[in-house]
Amino acid sequence: MSGKNILVTGGAGFIGSHLAQELEKRGNNVRILDNFVGGKQNLNYFDDKIEVMEGDCCNRDDCKKAVKGIDQVFHLAAHAAEGQSVFIPEFNAQTNIMGSIVMLTEAINAGIEEFAFTSSIAAYGKPESVPIKEIAKLNPEDPYAVTKKTFEDYLRVYYEIGQIKPYIVRFFNVYGPRQRMDDPYRGVVPIFINKCLKGERPLIFDDGLQKRAFTYITDVVEPICDLVGKEKLVNNPINIGTEEVYTVKELAEMTIEKMKADVEIEFINKRTSDVKVTYCDTSKAKELLGYKAKVSLSEGMDKTIEWAKEVGAQDFKYFDYTEIPKLTHKSYTSKKI
Ligand code: UD1
Repeated sequence: MSGKNILVTGGAGFIGSHLAQELEKRGNNVRILDNFVGGKQNLNYFDDKIEVMEGDCCNRDDCKKAVKGIDQVFHLAAHAAEGQSVFIPEFNAQTNIMGSIVMLTEAINAGIEEFAFTSSIAAYGKPESVPIKEIAKLNPEDPYAVTKKTFEDYLRVYYEIGQIKPYIVRFFNVYGPRQRMDDPYRGVVPIFINKCLKGERPLIFDDGLQKRAFTYITDVVEPICDLVGKEKLVNNPINIGTEEVYTVKELAEMTIEKMKADVEIEFINKRTSDVKVTYCDTSKAKELLGYKAKVSLSEGMDKTIEWAKEVGAQDFKYFDYTEIPKLTHKSYTSKKI
């Protein structure tokens, strides 16, 4: 395969850093653009062939520099926060919508056609039925999900006027090594693991019967590399994730058991806009990419726990900012929980 020049935005992040390495492994020249708000720790996994550029997708000059000489963009940079987005709608829109638009604009100005975007199952909102197929109506339930749907629309518009070939993947709940454990707002898997490492009680919002298809990192990184360039997938959003579905309570119990933690689960009230049951149908990915998730939750948890133990327990870092105090969930402000 001849190598392409590829830009990964958000390339220092959890999914972005794994993706950058996989693209490089496949013989491409990879550049990442990141503002390092999530830290620089994942750069330690890179060799010096991956070019690292510091910059922000909301900054036009940064985007201009980043797209120079690039053939394909994988746009991952975002503030990924569903529950949090409800009380920081302006920050959320600024980062996720404006940042995406500026990056897209500069990609178009640079004549780049292939533009992959990591959308989310969140864009479907509360589904009418599960598993959700790609043809389901997008009915976002929180501002973060609105940003995913909105940018999908921007991509479609610029595709229809012949400017871009968008590849849109809707990921499920992705987890694995390198996912931030110090983030108290999102990523139930690393939160539960970190709680167990610290000997603290995992908190379950609601009754724990929320269902999710927790998908191991390699099961999303490989297919997103495979799909770019496939004509049938241009402007044709695709669900990527596992078919295995677990409740949050089952996940908490599995984490406690695997980590032999001497802690009990604590239940507190539901997060605003939390979707109870959400998982997807992946038959389209099977048909068009021959895709099937390979890693079971049990195996993936073993690998993630092994990594987490090496890294060690982390202090949760609270984002001391709200635009709507009365909608700020208790767990987002109290440093005791
Ligand atoms: C996740 C993704 C989001 C993606 C979405 C698709 C992450 C970090 N976020 O959001 O980017 O768009 O999936 O659906 O993967 N929970 C608890 N206790 C906790 C933390 C969470 O009970 O301490 C519950 C939540 O209320 C929720 C479930 O666990 O019902 C999953 O939460 P979370 O991992 O934050 O993911 P989503 O909100 O599904």
